[in-house]
Amino acid sequence: MKMISRRDFLKASAVVGATAAMTACGGSSSTSTAASSVASSTAASAAATNGSANIGVCIYQFADNFMTLYRSDLEGYLKDMGYSVTIMDGKNDQNTQTEQINTFLQQGVDVLVINPVQTTSAQTIVDTVSPSGTPIVFINREPEESVLDSYKGKCCYVGADARQSGTYQGELILETETQGDINGDGKITYIMCKGDPENIDAQYRTEYSIKALTDKGKEVECLYEYLDNWDQTTAQQDVANALSQYGDKIEVVFCNNDAMALGALQSIQQANRTVGKDIYLVGVDALVEAVQNVVDGNMTGTVLNDDVGQATKAAEATKLFVDGKDVEKYYWVDYVKVTKDNASQYLKED
Ligand code: BGC
Repeated sequence: MKMISRRDFLKASAVVGATAAMTACGGSSSTSTAASSVASSTAASAAATNGSANIGVCIYQFADNFMTLYRSDLEGYLKDMGYSVTIMDGKNDQNTQTEQINTFLQQGVDVLVINPVQTTSAQTIVDTVSPSGTPIVFINREPEESVLDSYKGKCCYVGADARQSGTYQGELILETETQGDINGDGKITYIMCKGDPENIDAQYRTEYSIKALTDKGKEVECLYEYLDNWDQTTAQQDVANALSQYGDKIEVVFCNNDAMALGALQSIQQANRTVGKDIYLVGVDALVEAVQNVVDGNMTGTVLNDDVGQATKAAEATKLFVDGKDVEKYYWVDYVKVTKDNASQYLKED
């Protein structure tokens, strides 16, 4: 019997809004690799025919686990809509991405989907694009509202409210047997592995995970906040150092994403610490490897960052622009808490 895929499962459970465009977006079994997801630039320069359109997608960095899932979903949905899609790797460099945007403009793409390298460059991006009138769907890295307002009706943001993911991380800790206070000294002592500091997801997850604890009257002590830029290897090294420096004092390791949580887990295991027994570990994204670790008890929990829901809405917003219909300023997708009890349903890969 064929098992339902993670994408189909999420898609079936996604709460989608009731616009006509929503129904036009079918599921896709596309599982592109980084290389195959980059169409040739000639495809993008080909004129849109038969009601189709050329879509230029700028991803901040292909070497990002979560954005790899996201872009593969997005490519599938846009292609299912009959569009020609070109996806570029910004290589975590804003100048590179800006050049890619200029190239897309020269090619006359119909809509740009942009995951900015630097959220603070979003206004410059809009100023570069707006003279051409090309619509922009910003994804994953939320720009200031004033940026969206400066190109009203021609741009929107599709994302998830990172405050919710942070709150869920805190709740995951409160739901443990000791409510995060393993040594019973009356306070929750933690370290934090943070993503890119100018990214609102990193800021809110850092703030709201702890706020969930203090809102419930818990005393907390932060030993150190590490700037790990969403990166597994950096987090692995920092958590190894933290464990040797602070030892048993560390009761909770909060990670702004699962890539860093997976790095943290490697160091936790190397230090002979046991998640659920003498330390807790939480991430965000629900990458399959992380969910497997939740099932196996090696991670306390994670939070689903719904790549399928967000890619679906991004494709639908793109279609609204192509069809010349009205587009809202924001499209939000909910996070979901992933615990040992519900984790197995998020395990199946495409
Ligand atoms: C994800 C991270 C990812 C980042 C990229 C976040 O929403 O949780 O895993 O690295 O987006 O901007």
